[in-house]
Amino acid sequence: MAGKLLSLLPPALLAAAGLAGLLLLCVPTRDVREPPSLKYGIVLDAGSSHTSMFVYKWPADKENDTGIVGQHSSCDVRGGGISSYADNPSGAGQSLVECLEQALRDVPRERHAGTPLYLGATAGMRLLHLTSPEASAKVLAAVTHTLTQYPFDFRGARILSGQDEGVFGWVTANYLLENFIKYSWAGRWFRPRKGTLGAMDLGGASTQLTFEVASPAEDPANEVQLRLYGQQYRVYTHSFLCYGRDQVLQRLLASVLQTRRPHPCWPRGYSTHVLLRDVYASPCTEAQRPQTFNSSDRVGLSGGGDPAFCRSLVSGLFNLSSCPFSRCSFNGVFQPPVAGDFIAFSAFFYTVDFLRTVMGLPVATLQQLEDAAVTVCSQTWSELLARAPAAEAHLPNYCPMAMFVQQLLSLGYRFDEHAFSRVTFQKKAGDTAVGWALGYMLNLTNMIPADPPGLRKTTAFSSWVALLLLFTALLLAALVLLLCKARPAKPPSAI
Ligand SMILES: *[C@@H]1O[C@H](CO)[C@@H](O)[C@H](O)[C@H]1NC(C)=O
Ligand SMILES: *[C@@H]1O[C@H](CO)[C@@H](O)[C@H](O)[C@H]1NC(C)=O
Ligand SMILES: *[C@@H]1O[C@H](CO)[C@@H](O)[C@H](O)[C@H]1NC(C)=O
Ligand SMILES: *[C@@H]1O[C@H](CO)[C@@H](O)[C@H](O)[C@H]1NC(C)=O
Repeated sequence: MAGKLLSLLPPALLAAAGLAGLLLLCVPTRDVREPPSLKYGIVLDAGSSHTSMFVYKWPADKENDTGIVGQHSSCDVRGGGISSYADNPSGAGQSLVECLEQALRDVPRERHAGTPLYLGATAGMRLLHLTSPEASAKVLAAVTHTLTQYPFDFRGARILSGQDEGVFGWVTANYLLENFIKYSWAGRWFRPRKGTLGAMDLGGASTQLTFEVASPAEDPANEVQLRLYGQQYRVYTHSFLCYGRDQVLQRLLASVLQTRRPHPCWPRGYSTHVLLRDVYASPCTEAQRPQTFNSSDRVGLSGGGDPAFCRSLVSGLFNLSSCPFSRCSFNGVFQPPVAGDFIAFSAFFYTVDFLRTVMGLPVATLQQLEDAAVTVCSQTWSELLARAPAAEAHLPNYCPMAMFVQQLLSLGYRFDEHAFSRVTFQKKAGDTAVGWALGYMLNLTNMIPADPPGLRKTTAFSSWVALLLLFTALLLAALVLLLCKARPAKPPSAI
């Protein structure tokens, strides 16, 4: 009996070894390893109305994996956009200090020197550059001076083109939603079938429309080709300068001043004084600027609460009369038909969110959006104030913005009800704000490689599979041996 047990020992040991190997392979390595150290990057989004700082983070060992970079923290710079410091450039640099001090605390000290820092300025600075290239250069020099005082790896302050702004917003949205490439549970990189998502951004001074298209753009200025993770993308993009929220509001104001009537887009019961210098300072209101006016004059203006007249003023912003291409959006700009799913962020989101949450109105269709705009435009000042007392400064502008968003999408970009049903209004994906800033950093740090991710993961994966097979074979062989040895001798067969 003892001899029999002894003979079972080797196969039993073999089985135990196989089992142990299998178990070890199945323990997730993540649990035993130290947490990976993080890397950081900082982007200052210098918009026309204000500057935001975003601190991003990602695991140091996974630089080229999609969807890995996320937002660590953010900070809103107090005061206006850097372009508002044209008369006092050093003030533009000074305005950033509070957020930069926060960045010193948000990023661990030992990572400061290795953290890239970028400042990108958008349409506000594009407009300032149009009116005074010297003034915009002085503002950029002033912010550069401030940014170089910090221990981060400062990589420059620039004005983005409208094209870059549109494309980087598109890259950000699709990166965060893992539409370019995904690492599957089976250990392979694959391209998700759902395709990419179009992006619509509405800033203070410009608005961008960007989406993937199948055929070449008739106007080369509207086409960008990108190679991301080994795949080629053909993207249509256009940025409309002077079609951002603040510039649209100033242009409507300038039109109203010509009519000498109450402002049809402001609520009845609201009145204020308008400083002519503010209205006519921008190149966007040049066409409506009177020959002579006293720039320090203030003009009293009251609200008229007239949705129909407001709509006609807003639709006057879109010139649909001529198109040198087979099809256009407006102002003679080429645009193929919108296709696929879209995400609409920044002021698109804030406008629709107000209609939904404060006004309690449905905005699932273009018709509902139009009805909601008419409803907001029919509210009196006291009715609006009662709904959202905390938002007083912005309240008069929700009617014109709702009208503008509705007209821009339907009249301008030619969304029909079907296409509109595929638009989501969203400002974040997970914890990360959707905007051009993340895409800009990913591009400048080369974190989206042109080629598919390396064999790093697949090599590890195939050796893992080989080991798995080896230990399984070992275990099976041992079990077979055990069975053979343990089986009692066959009883003699009865004939
Ligand atoms: C990421 O890709 C870049 C360029 O393709 C390469 O130089 C870098 O070493 C990669 N980083 C990692 C962590 O794989
Ligand atoms: C402009 O208006 C200010 C105050 O409204 C007045 O003091 C000034 O004299 C005016 N200038 C001209 C050129 O009319
Ligand atoms: C619209 O654009 C055309 C062509 O650029 C121009 O001739 C026309 O004056 C514009 N109309 C308006 C109302 O601005
Ligand atoms: C991203 O960076 C590369 C160079 O690293 C450049 O060739 C490419 O044009 C950039 N993409 C965009 C959209 O600007």
